[in-house]
Amino acid sequence: FARAAGPLPLDGKTAIVTSGPTREPIDPVRYISNASSGRQGVAIAEALAARGALVKFVTGPAEHARPKGCQIIPVETALEMEAAVNAALPADIAIFTAAVADWRVAEPADAKLKKDASGTPPELSFIANPDILAGVSHLPAGERPGLVIGFAAETGNLLTHARNKLARKGCDWLLANDVSPESGVFGGTDTEIVFLDGQDAEDWGPMSKVEVAERLAERIATRLEALT
Ligand code: CTP
Ligand code: CA
Repeated sequence: FARAAGPLPLDGKTAIVTSGPTREPIDPVRYISNASSGRQGVAIAEALAARGALVKFVTGPAEHARPKGCQIIPVETALEMEAAVNAALPADIAIFTAAVADWRVAEPADAKLKKDASGTPPELSFIANPDILAGVSHLPAGERPGLVIGFAAETGNLLTHARNKLARKGCDWLLANDVSPESGVFGGTDTEIVFLDGQDAEDWGPMSKVEVAERLAERIATRLEALT
C-alpha cells in the first residue's frame, strides 16, 4: 500500500464507507441477502485512504471486503450496520455503497425450522429495516457529516428515480447506475454512472468501478477544500 510523500488532499479527514450486502436471519442457519460484491465500496475506500483519509469501512459479508489501509468493521444485519455507522461517527464524509436489505424477518426462529409432515412451507413475515443513509443525512447540523453520498441501482427511468431518491434520502450527492439486464453491468467490474448533486445530473459514461472511485475521491477532495 503506497502512500505518496508530502501532504495529501484528504489528510486529517475521516470517512465512513458502507459496503456489501446485509444478511437477515430466518433461523440460525438460513438468511435472506443479495449478491452485492462489495467491489465499488472497496474501490472507494481505497481511493479515499490513498488520499490520506482515515477510512472506517463498515461491511456486510461480501466477496470484496478488505480495502487496503482502512479500518474494517464487519457486520451482518442492517441493524448491526446502522449501529456500527452510528458508533463510527463523527466523520467528515459518509458514503453508502452497501446493498442494505430493505426488510428483515420479523421474528427469526431460535431453532432451525423443520419441514412438517404435510409439506406446508413456513410463512415468513417481514418488517422494514432502518434507512441508514437517510438517518445520517437527517442528523442535526454539527453531528451530520459535511458530505453525505448515496448510491442507487435502478432499472427503468433512471433519472426520475434517482432525483426522487436524492430528495427523499436528503443526501448531498447520489451516484445512480442502470442495472437493467440489457445494460449488462450488474455484478461486473464496469458500470455507467449518472452523478447527481441536487441541481445537475452528469453522465460519467461507462467506466470501471475503480475509475468511478478515483473520480469521486477527486471530487470529494475538491469539495472539502471549498468548504474549508
Ligand atoms: N440505504 C441505506 N439503508 C437502507 C437502504 C438503503 O443506507 N435500509 C442506502 C444504500 O446504501 C444506497 C441508498 O441508500 O446508498 C439507496 O439504496 P436503494 O436500495 O437504491 O434505495 P431504497 O430507498 O431502498 O429504494 P428502493 O426501493 O429502490 O430499493
Ligand atoms: Ca433498497
